[in-house]
Amino acid sequence: MPEDASWAVLSGARQSRVGVAPVATDAVVGFATRSLRVEIDRGTLELTIRDAQGNVVQQDARPIAFDGRTFRIWKKMPLDEHYFGLGDKTGPLDRRNEAFTLWNTDAYRYQESTDPLYKSIPFFMTYRSGVAAGILLDNTWRSSFDFGKQVRDTYSFGAEDGPLDYYFLYGPSPKQVVEAYVWLTGTPPLPPLWTLGYQQSRYSYYPQARVLEVADRLRADHFPADAIYLDIDYQQDNRPFTVNTALFPDFSGMIAKLTAENLHAVAITDLHIANYPGHGYAPYDSGMAADAFVKNPDGSVYAGKVWPGSSVFPEFTRARTRAWWGGLYREFYGMGIAGFWNDMNEPSIFDSPTLTMPIDVVHRIEEPGFQTRTATHAEIHNVYGMENSRATFDGLLALKPDLRPFVLTRATYAGGQRYAATWTGDNSSTWNHLRMTTPMLKNLGLSGFAFAGADVGGYAGTPAPELLTKWFEIAAFQPIDRDHTEKGSGDQEPWVGGPEQEAIRRHFVETRYELMPYLYTLAEEASRTGVPLERPLFFEFPDAAADHHPLDVDPAASGEFLLGPDLLIAPPPFLEEVEAYPVELPSADWYDFWTGERVARPAAAQVGPVVVTARPEAATLPIFVRGGSIVPMQPLVESTNETPQGPLDLRVYVGDGGEGRSCEGSLYLDDGKTMAYRQGAFLRAGFTCLVADGVLRIHIGAHEGSYPAWWKEIHGEVYGWSATSATVVVDGRSEPVPLSRSSQAIHFTVDDNGKGVDLELR
Ligand code: GLC
Repeated sequence: MPEDASWAVLSGARQSRVGVAPVATDAVVGFATRSLRVEIDRGTLELTIRDAQGNVVQQDARPIAFDGRTFRIWKKMPLDEHYFGLGDKTGPLDRRNEAFTLWNTDAYRYQESTDPLYKSIPFFMTYRSGVAAGILLDNTWRSSFDFGKQVRDTYSFGAEDGPLDYYFLYGPSPKQVVEAYVWLTGTPPLPPLWTLGYQQSRYSYYPQARVLEVADRLRADHFPADAIYLDIDYQQDNRPFTVNTALFPDFSGMIAKLTAENLHAVAITDLHIANYPGHGYAPYDSGMAADAFVKNPDGSVYAGKVWPGSSVFPEFTRARTRAWWGGLYREFYGMGIAGFWNDMNEPSIFDSPTLTMPIDVVHRIEEPGFQTRTATHAEIHNVYGMENSRATFDGLLALKPDLRPFVLTRATYAGGQRYAATWTGDNSSTWNHLRMTTPMLKNLGLSGFAFAGADVGGYAGTPAPELLTKWFEIAAFQPIDRDHTEKGSGDQEPWVGGPEQEAIRRHFVETRYELMPYLYTLAEEASRTGVPLERPLFFEFPDAAADHHPLDVDPAASGEFLLGPDLLIAPPPFLEEVEAYPVELPSADWYDFWTGERVARPAAAQVGPVVVTARPEAATLPIFVRGGSIVPMQPLVESTNETPQGPLDLRVYVGDGGEGRSCEGSLYLDDGKTMAYRQGAFLRAGFTCLVADGVLRIHIGAHEGSYPAWWKEIHGEVYGWSATSATVVVDGRSEPVPLSRSSQAIHFTVDDNGKGVDLELR
């Protein structure tokens, strides 16, 4: 191999070393760490990994197979092992009995069995009896993964060329595996707060008056929203970094107007540069002058047809070309466009039988760690989109170092979470596609992409009003909430289908905005640890089932997902069905999020999952809150730019059991825009509660960091506690604060000066 380098793995991680104890017997060589024993058979080179107790965690099923330049690794597949990850692949959450190819592909109108798709994330998690481990195959060539489809009881992975370079990541908890994966490949950056708001898009809003009309309608209808997207039709003949001034006579004025309405403009800037010499088209001219485009084997610049017609393609594998690309954003970013959308970066090519570049197109690599060399498209294809989003992210950062960039990419590779959020591409407006968003976003989250969404309402086709409404309901609890549809389909804005539908959709998006403190706290956690916002149940409750199998594979839980550790969203497993359906909860200790009622406990003190019944209704979505949590919420705003008016809401859900019941929660806040948080301009606070001697004690932690709170008071809402006294004792003082009761909760309001408050409820 020309070098020992990686596009995915951080160089710090590659350089890091840990002490091991050598293992050598007649049969094997290897080493032991504190938690693992790794042995390689001297005769066959087969690998066996055991935990400290000697249990096999992973074992080769046969020797590595080499054939020409290809290789394949075979692993034993215990009957009760499950497989997750691999990015955006469709199908069941569990990859068992499925096989996949990793080759970034523009899969317009993909369906449930379509493969390959847009992204190549050669990372998966194995999970067996409560023990999780991970494998990252760091190889950019076309690769494939087979989980017992080809050979029963054996899973395998391999690539058609390139290094046999794979990482084993030990948990044993699923969270530890994701944290280790993100330690290897990087955390997603802390996103600007507005990107967690509702985002409005379509292919395309034009002319200018239509963009402003949609913006005005969102505001007139008091529909909370933070972003509006400009798809390709704002450009002159689809040429990136241009504006069609006939359709957009005052483009910068329009951006300013949107900004004044607290709507962030996001513009698409596809990577294909129009092959348009001699017309003063700066991206082409400056790119040619910088020798920035990929070439055919004969040395001529490669051209392929995409939206602008004949197009040329930047050499994103060279640092200097990425810097040139980044500079192209100067004008748009300077104008106040807040985010950028990198689409078609598989790369998609229309007039090619393979939908992409020929594999012999030549890329040049000029990159720290790599030898300066050329590489064929076969090697670079799967990292091309990630390097495109990297160039955009780094470019925006160079232009405005104090502002957090927002980039949305379609194609990517392992580690791409460092640069961009993603979405699941061109889905369809069907109930099945809405259902598919859950396994897709869960697996993307386990693959490092904490910030991911699916086109709300579906891209291809026109949703019936009820489908659009249900999509709004579910997407309100997914990390990225963006409504988007294709050209020629029916309107898909929140008001489509009439005021009754809009009112339901508004209610759900409003709930998202009320939960913004919780969402943003999760986003900040993701930026430190990689732990995703949308989580499978087994991620938080690996041991819920007596046999430790992941609950998510149960039919009764297959439609469910967690938003953070505390909220469980429970749509029906099949969304078009009208019958009552079972909801499997990982424990007996849950509350109904909407009513605050405690979920009825089974007669006997039961541990383990509990099944309740829910009824599908157009206007409702069952959501449960974990007993033992404290969820921060805020008064409603219509944009994250607005400062909430009133107290911080803390919903305290006292955990199950008698004495010793407890709960906890936390909050993270900052300006939501800049890098000032790195200099301490953030606010972090923890909250706890504990029942002892018949008293419920709630501790509201002191504010850490220098960022000021927007609230002066805290409104407490306590569930699962029946107070006998009519007051709350604050910091042991003699003048207690009155409390009031609603059907499920106790309410009170206390001052919060940031120094910490202790409350006692009797
Ligand atoms: C691709 C994208 C889609 C976009 C369209 C036009 O199909 O996936 O989201 O609207 O191109 O830019």
